[in-house]
Order: sequence, then structure tokens, then C-alpha cells
Amino acid sequence: MLLMPDIMDNVHRYFATTVGLVTTKGKHGPNVMAAEWTMQVSYEPMLIAIFIHESPTYWNIEETKVFGVNIASDDQAELVNIAGGYSGTEIEKLAIPGTFATYKAKKIDVPMVKECALAAECKVTAIQKMGDHIMVVGEAISAKFDEKKFPLIYTRGNYRKISRSKISSGRKIVRVTPEQMSQFKKMSAGQFVFKAAVAVIKDGNKILLQKSGGQWVLPMVLVSKGADYKNTLNQHLHSIGVSASVGSIKGIARMVLKSGREELRANFIMFDSTVSLFKEDYDRAAWFAKPPKNMLLKSLL
Ligand SMILES: Cc1cc2nc3c(=O)[nH]c(=O)nc-3n(C[C@H](O)[C@H](O)[C@H](O)COP(=O)(O)O)c2cc1C
Repeated sequence: MLLMPDIMDNVHRYFATTVGLVTTKGKHGPNVMAAEWTMQVSYEPMLIAIFIHESPTYWNIEETKVFGVNIASDDQAELVNIAGGYSGTEIEKLAIPGTFATYKAKKIDVPMVKECALAAECKVTAIQKMGDHIMVVGEAISAKFDEKKFPLIYTRGNYRKISRSKISSGRKIVRVTPEQMSQFKKMSAGQFVFKAAVAVIKDGNKILLQKSGGQWVLPMVLVSKGADYKNTLNQHLHSIGVSASVGSIKGIARMVLKSGREELRANFIMFDSTVSLFKEDYDRAAWFAKPPKNMLLKSLL
């Protein structure tokens, strides 16, 4: 698709960002600017990047090598308008009565804005020109947040509030027996989400099942983080006496397994597979024309 210049001009409108009130203090006075291009870019050390143009904010940072990041909360749209609508070359924004309430930063000499969702005091670690903006990266040497405040969102030229309702995880709730639950818990080895590769192997009207925790289930194996699903499943099938060729992904099933009060999140990636060699061994795996009734099996097939 060819992007026409007027479309290119509007691309930035289709991101959704929070807005940082970047505070500084230097030769260009105490100052605050709005910067939607503000984000955390590393956990350890905790680094925050801002992308700004040459203005009093940048000149202050260049001089002092420190800045404050105050993520505006959704009741601070007016402050963002002021911080973004005027330059420190024009007026002293922080001195307008009835607008910014500030406090002194703990570790650096800049004013911080009260009532923000997040406040971080940063020491510059890198400055680099990036296209028509300058990337300033700072290490957050002190940070605090307010659980009760939600960040203001900026998208399509408007300020918006984040809905307080969470998006449902979309996971199907599937009841399993206590034996299955303890088997899955054991297999999941403490992982937050049980991530398994599952083989769907059919021969005419028969399906191949494996015995697990005293129940017949589709052949499945936990896959450890970063490991290849197909290979892990192939090896597992071998270990239960099945020579198979694991084919393409048939689908994904995301569930919450429940037994009594116990819960386990589970993601099953199903693979269509074909068997080349298999001698039935009822302790490990067998063909079933009529699979035994169990909810997990029903949900996966
Ligand atoms: C919502 C909003 C977001 C903004 N984001 C940025 C940004 O990420 N980077 C930038 O250089 N300017 C951004 N601006 C523009 C600056 O805030 C504006 O140029 C401001 O006057 C700069 O302040 P200063 O001149 O006092 O340093 C934004 C403005 C608004 C209203």
C-alpha cells in the first residue's frame, strides 16, 4: 500500500500514548513540557527515554543532566494543554496561578508535579539525535506512583480516559478432577501458565490418547520457555512409544483449569499429527473409537 504524504502526516495520531510532564530547572528557568514520547525502556537499570525537540526543556537538560518525568493522570488534561501549548521562552508555565502544584524532587534539583500517576527523577545516561527529535535517556534514581490515579491517554488528537473495566482473558473454564489438577500442577513445575503441546492423532474414527494422572487425555507435554513445540512433542510421543510425525498447528485453546478452589491457567497448542509406528500399551497410550467422557478432552477436540 502506498502511503500518501497526508496519511504519513497523520500516522502519529493512531498511536495511543500516555503524556509525560517533563520538568527541568536550569538557565531557562524552572520549566515543564508535555511529551507523549516518554516511556520506560529498561527494567534494570530503570531507564526512561523522552523524545523532544530543541527548546528550553532540552537546553535545561543539556546543562544540568537531570529531568523529572511526571506521567499525567486523567484529571490533568488542562495541565498538559498548558505544558504543551506554551514554551518556556514565552511564559513561566509553572508560575501560572491555579495550575501546577509542585513539590521539590528528592534526589535532583527540579520541581515535580503533584497528583500525577507516576513520578520519576532521572539522571541523563544518553543523548542522541533521532530524526527530527532528540532522544534523552535517563536513569530513574527515584520513582513513585499513585495506585488511585490512572494515566491520561492521548490518541487521535484527543485526551481519553482508560476504561476501568478490564478486558476479559477470554479463557474457557474447564473443570478437571483433583487427580488431573495435581498431575497438571506437577507438570507445570511452578509455571504461571501451563503451556503444553498437544498431538491430535486420528486414524479413521479412532483417536490416540495417553494416560495421565489416571485419566485418558490427548498426548500432551509441557514445553519449557524458548523450546521448540514440535520437537518437544515429537520427543514426548517417542517417550510414550509412539513414532509420529507432528504436522501443522491445528489451533490454540486457552483455558482456566479448575478443581475445587484450585486453578491453573493453561494454553494448549494442538498439532495435527500422523502415526508411523505404534504398539498399543494401555499403561501409556491407546486408540479409542469412543473417547472416555471428560471435560478437558471435550474442550480440546
Ligand atoms: C499532548 C502533547 C504531547 C506532546 N508531546 C511532545 C513530545 O513527545 N515531544 C516533543 O518534542 N514535543 C511534544 N509536545 C510539544 C511540546 O510540549 C511543546 O513544544 C512545548 O511548548 C515545549 O515546551 P518548552 O518549549 O517549554 O520546552 C507535545 C505537546 C502536547 C500538547
